[in-house]
Amino acid sequence: MAQHILVLHGPNLNLLGTREPDVYGADTLSDINQRLLAIAGHHGARCSVYQSNHEGELVDRIQAAAQDQTDFIIINAAAYTHTSVAIRDALAAVRIPFVEVHISNVYSREAFRHHSYLADLARGVIAGLGVYGYEAALQYALAQRT
Ligand code: DQA
Repeated sequence: MAQHILVLHGPNLNLLGTREPDVYGADTLSDINQRLLAIAGHHGARCSVYQSNHEGELVDRIQAAAQDQTDFIIINAAAYTHTSVAIRDALAAVRIPFVEVHISNVYSREAFRHHSYLADLARGVIAGLGVYGYEAALQYALAQRT
């Protein structure tokens, strides 16, 4: 059975391409998602992508992942990374392995970005590699296939 990978994007990532391009680059969210879908398809895996600006909707989508055979999650929770106990609890509840991705190097930015509510539950954290971080996380997820 093909691996099913869910890619979750948090608040303001719908603005990629125009949002602080010096920090986040010029690619749009659609550019990123299309590349991820193409790579997953090439490997015969299913990939679902979801973006929301709303914490509860991200929680709902994580809970739904427990019902739709998702076996790996790639999540850039954006600002919710630094604030959301609810998203942490949802990831802990579904027990689906995940990688946390950040486009920017959060550790070279403001101190409030240095703490993640998700990181200690994650298989790993990728930060600062630009949008390539999503592809690196996807390659890792695909390599977990048994
Ligand atoms: C981000 C880093 C977060 O601190 C910020 O709030 C974002 C994007 C990143 O991808 O670099 O919205 O997660």
